[in-house]
Amino acid sequence: MRSHYCTDVSEKNIGEKVELAGWANNHRDHGGIIFIDLRDKSGLIQLVCDPADNVEAHKKANEVRDEFVLLIKGTIRARGEGLTNPRLKTGAIEVVVDELIIENRSAPMPFVIGDDKVGEETKLKYRYLDLRSPSSYETFRLRSKAAIAARNSLDKLGFLEVETPILTKSTPEGARDYLVPSRVHEGEFYALPQSPQLFKQLLMVGGFDRYFQIAKCFRDEDLRADRQPEFTQIDVEMSFCDQEDVITVAETLLTDMFEACGHEVKAPFNRMTHAHAMEFYGSDKPDMRYGLKMVDVIDIFERCDNAIFTDIAKSPKINRIKALRVPGADLIFSKREMKSFEDYVRKFGAHGLGYFQMKEDGLKGPLTKFFSEEDIQLIIERTELEVGDVVFFGAGDKKTVWDYMGRFRIFIAEHEKMNLIPEDAFEFLWVVDFPMFEVEDGRVKALHHPFTQPKDLNHNDVEDIESIAYDIVLNGVELGGGSIRIHKEQIQSEVFKLLGIEEEEAQEKFGFLLDALKFGAPPHGGFALGFDRFMMLLAKKDSIRDVIAFPKTQKASCILTKAPSAVDNSQLRDLHIRLRESTK
Ligand code: AMO
Repeated sequence: MRSHYCTDVSEKNIGEKVELAGWANNHRDHGGIIFIDLRDKSGLIQLVCDPADNVEAHKKANEVRDEFVLLIKGTIRARGEGLTNPRLKTGAIEVVVDELIIENRSAPMPFVIGDDKVGEETKLKYRYLDLRSPSSYETFRLRSKAAIAARNSLDKLGFLEVETPILTKSTPEGARDYLVPSRVHEGEFYALPQSPQLFKQLLMVGGFDRYFQIAKCFRDEDLRADRQPEFTQIDVEMSFCDQEDVITVAETLLTDMFEACGHEVKAPFNRMTHAHAMEFYGSDKPDMRYGLKMVDVIDIFERCDNAIFTDIAKSPKINRIKALRVPGADLIFSKREMKSFEDYVRKFGAHGLGYFQMKEDGLKGPLTKFFSEEDIQLIIERTELEVGDVVFFGAGDKKTVWDYMGRFRIFIAEHEKMNLIPEDAFEFLWVVDFPMFEVEDGRVKALHHPFTQPKDLNHNDVEDIESIAYDIVLNGVELGGGSIRIHKEQIQSEVFKLLGIEEEEAQEKFGFLLDALKFGAPPHGGFALGFDRFMMLLAKKDSIRDVIAFPKTQKASCILTKAPSAVDNSQLRDLHIRLRESTK
């Protein structure tokens, strides 16, 4: 129905006849001449309907309202002197309309296309209208480019694209499963996959050597700006490989995807051990676009005259005292603001947040009196303080200090008065050597998942066992993760045991995997990238919902289709389900 997209025409086409199709972005009547901005996926072009040129087209144009669907034939001409619009790609030309067909009408719009101030609920209810804006289209154009680049990149590296089941058995990735009741097997359920983890491992046992999939995953977990219940992973697995091989593939894939979207990133990416990341950045996904590295000062506080600090310092293995230098903070923040930082960290378990200010005449603050002159000097040197800086101290047990000081680091970097984060930077970081287990409320849990290869299981404290697991972090967001897997049945059984999974339960849940590992499973490993998170960062969006065509709300519902919804009793009966009285 068209000869060109709206913005494919330019001054080169002046005098040519064109056929265009799209939506009326807006219409204006200037002294009897009607101007309409026609919009399609490419952008806008101005149509002119002058009764002096064509009475019929002008009559039709009079009926046009916002978002009517138009098919037009016309002639390109240059806009008059002083009438060009430099904000439009087609701002130097316009189309004199010879024929105008109103192909479809639109009800009055709930919002103006492209209006950023519209509430999210309204936008999601009319998602198809929100998608009509050129900026939405651009996001999904990039998403398509990135997905195609991922396929091409992995294809070139010899990976085979294989689909794995959606109706399956539970895979433990740490979240709740979405369950699907079986009609045929009364009282039994499928689980939607949290990831294709076990199937990709079975494909390695199947000898496929290199697998990938752009896979839908489902996790029933608390939602945040970077989490959806249904999301997409670029999932990769390979055989006869070590960590270096996997990392090289991931870096090639990421650089290819970035390139396809017009950004150059340089591999190899920096690396940091998990232990280092926690100690110095208080996070397993540190944002490396800025410094703000935490420094240990526990040895200095051990010698001070304050019992609270010396008590904490006496058990350095489980306790920490960390210093965070904030450049220029003394000149930027008021006393009240600095006090309010304490309220912020208290929310995360801090008892307080002491600070010293670096003045012209030395280090000042209520705590300084507890330290000797030499130790004050040592604090200045170790934290590299300069006049105008403030150094904040966090003390307590290590996990709490890492957590609140890590959050404080981000809080400061993102503070509008600090301006520490460069706009266009993409800072990748591999975090490697993750612990295999963590203990939460006395229960041993796998930090990645239970199929990760431990380095050495012989440690007194399970939390000291390291694994061959790695995460790829971009600008402080966990973009993906992976590991070398256990490929020997006996080690897998031992890990289940350490996780408190009894043999019978292991057989019931993962018997198929344990069986497969008995039949010559090759060494293997892989990773998965969160594709939606990748797009969110690449397209510089604040929410993952902006890069998913039909996302769910924070409450995991689809406002557009009203899912989830009640179903007929007959459907429930078929599925052998009887609903209890609501407990709400
Ligand atoms: P993991 O659980 O770390 O690893 O997931 C990999 C990546 O998927 C993304 N992701 C999510 N994105 C949006 N919404 C969610 N709810 C969500 N959950 C996870 C993240 C994350 O880094 N099977 C392993 C991978 C492997 O070991 O190969 C796995 O799924 O970007």
